[in-house]
Amino acid sequence: MTSTVPLPTAAAVIGGSTGIGRGVADAWAALGVETHVFSRSRPQGPGADRLAWTRLDLRDAEEAQRVLRYGLPTGLGLVCYSAVYYTGRRAPFLETDDQDWQDQFSVNVHGLAWTARAALPLLRAAAPGLFLHISSEVVYNAGPHRAGYAATKAAASSLVRSVALETDPAEVSVVEAMPAGMVDTPGIRARRSEGFDYSDYMAPGAFAPLAAELARTRGAAHAGDALVVRDDATWSSVAAGTPVSQSRPLAHQLPEE
Ligand SMILES: NC(=O)c1ccc[n+]([C@@H]2O[C@H](COP(=O)([O-])OP(=O)(O)OC[C@H]3O[C@@H](n4cnc5c(N)ncnc54)[C@H](OP(=O)(O)O)[C@@H]3O)[C@@H](O)[C@H]2O)c1
Repeated sequence: MTSTVPLPTAAAVIGGSTGIGRGVADAWAALGVETHVFSRSRPQGPGADRLAWTRLDLRDAEEAQRVLRYGLPTGLGLVCYSAVYYTGRRAPFLETDDQDWQDQFSVNVHGLAWTARAALPLLRAAAPGLFLHISSEVVYNAGPHRAGYAATKAAASSLVRSVALETDPAEVSVVEAMPAGMVDTPGIRARRSEGFDYSDYMAPGAFAPLAAELARTRGAAHAGDALVVRDDATWSSVAAGTPVSQSRPLAHQLPEE
C-alpha cells in the first residue's frame, strides 16, 4: 500500500476541456485541488464551473510556449498532458497531407515537450509532484491508416519514458496511462458516422479513480510505468499485458469470402 501525501494546491490539465483529460480534471477538482485546464475551447457542462481555463492553441508554437512558460499556476503539484490531434479521418499514409502531419506533431509531441519543460521545474520545487501523460495502445501495436497518430504517440511515449529515467521519483513521478479500448470522446466522435454504436466504448470517467489515486500518492508506486485503464476503472501495468490494437483490419488481412 503506497502512503498518501497531502494534496497540492494546484493542478494543470493540458487538453482538459473534453475526453480523458476532462475526466482527469474533474477527478482532481472533485478532490478540492484548484484545477486549471489549457485548451482552445472553454470546458462546458457539469463540473465546468469548478475548472479554471486558459486558452491555448498548440499549433501556434511561439504563443503556446509563452502560455505554458508563464501561465501554469503557482503551487503546481499535478500535471496531465492529454491534448491530441487525431486528424479528420483514418487513411493510408500516402493519402495524408503535410498539414495534418505537422499539426499532429505540434499537438501530440511538441506541446508535450513544452509542457514538460515548463512544468517539471515547478513540480520539482513543490515536490512531490506528478506528471501524467495519456498514452495509447498504438505505441505498442503500430497503427495502419493512422500512421501520423502512431508515430506521434510513439515519439511522445518515448520522450516521457526518457524523461522519467532522468527524473528522481522522490521529486516527480512521471507516469503514463492509456485506455484498454476505445473511449467515447468528442475527438473520436468527430471521426465516426452518425448513428455509430458506442456501447462497447469506455467512458472518460473510467480514468477518475486512477487520477484520484495518483493525486493522493503522487504516483509514487508507478513512477516510470505505463498503466492500462479498463472500462471498470481498474488498472494494471502495461508489463502485465499490452492493450489490443484498435486499428481496423486491412483488406488483405480479412478472411477470404
Ligand atoms: N479516445 C480514445 O479512444 C483514446 C484511445 C487511446 C488513447 N487515447 C489518448 O487519450 C488522450 C485524449 O484523447 P481524447 O479522445 O480524450 O481526446 P479529445 O476528447 O479529442 O480531447 C482532446 C483534448 O485536446 C485539446 N486539443 C486539441 N487540439 C488542441 C490544440 N491545437 N491546442 C490545445 N489543445 C488542443 C482539446 O481541446 P480543444 O478542442 O478545446 O482545444 C481537448 O481538450 C490522447 O492522448 C489520446 O491519444 C484516446
